Amino acid sequence: MGDIHVMREEFLPPKPPPRRHLISVGDLTRDDVERLLATARSFSRSLEREVKKLPTLRGYTVVNVFYESSTRTSSSFELAAKRLSADTMSIKAAGSSVDKGESLKDTALTLGAYDPDVIVIRHPQIGAPQLVARYTAAHIVNAGDGKHQHPTQALLDLYTIREHVGPLDGLHVAIVGDVLHSRVARSNIQALTLMGATVTLVGPPPLIPRGIEAMGCEVSHEIGAIAAADVVYVLRMQRERMQEGANYVPSLREYTARWGVTPERLRPGQKVMHPGPMNRGVEIDPVVADAADALIETQVRAGLVVRMAVLYDLLTTGPVPVKTPEPLEVA
Ligand code: NCD
Repeated sequence: MGDIHVMREEFLPPKPPPRRHLISVGDLTRDDVERLLATARSFSRSLEREVKKLPTLRGYTVVNVFYESSTRTSSSFELAAKRLSADTMSIKAAGSSVDKGESLKDTALTLGAYDPDVIVIRHPQIGAPQLVARYTAAHIVNAGDGKHQHPTQALLDLYTIREHVGPLDGLHVAIVGDVLHSRVARSNIQALTLMGATVTLVGPPPLIPRGIEAMGCEVSHEIGAIAAADVVYVLRMQRERMQEGANYVPSLREYTARWGVTPERLRPGQKVMHPGPMNRGVEIDPVVADAADALIETQVRAGLVVRMAVLYDLLTTGPVPVKTPEPLEVA
């Protein structure tokens, strides 16, 4: 039997090396996160130079496919690829009706025909990135699949906290609002707890999934619970994902009155984050959004270097060299 097995193996084509993907925060170890954040930091130093483009990923192709609207995520992936000298192509399919199963498979096969090295995909269906991974040879980065995962958002949030608040170990983060529809919340709960932070979810019962404590976080239905946190992470009310007729909250006005993050509900020095896009005056008071303690624009800036780090990390085997690569010579 053993011999037959050996013979069979001989006739098989060599196995391709396993492709690395970033589909869920659950794919990452603490060491992976440390390496990615260190790489991001080294890229942030390279962006301080006058010539910002690095030759690092010259010759590689990164395809961005967005089936859902996006400003920050799509623009930062595109710029990240460009800053590393990769060829990029961005396809925006928002608004088109994408059927389940077959049509996404066909899209994957079509994109695969260009032999891209990385496909960055955002899609309303949970599991879309895995499907594309099955039908193409590219490294896949999940830029958001339904209400499931958004791993690069969680990484850029970790980076922002580390650089602007302090060590993650022992830090207390309150995530406030529409957790039910939020892939950002799911990815952040996993990422923050992986790195030793404590997470409290705060919001009205219909917007906090039952049993979510199993992810290692606490739940409070009192807005006063945010006072104990070092960082208050505000989530958008995702009206587009709310089923019509379902009463998650009596009204947006009532939501704002009871759960809105206002200056009165914050302690001085508490840092405020929001993944964007914000509904000013709904989940976040404009005064809070514009205050010096808000890290919202800092998060956007972090998005660029963290996405550069993710692309680099997937396409190379080791961590980024300590010495930042020289900028591309301009002809
Ligand atoms: C988030 C998303 O799309 O999941 N936004 C983002 O990536 N910047 C959060 C949201 O849409 O509320």
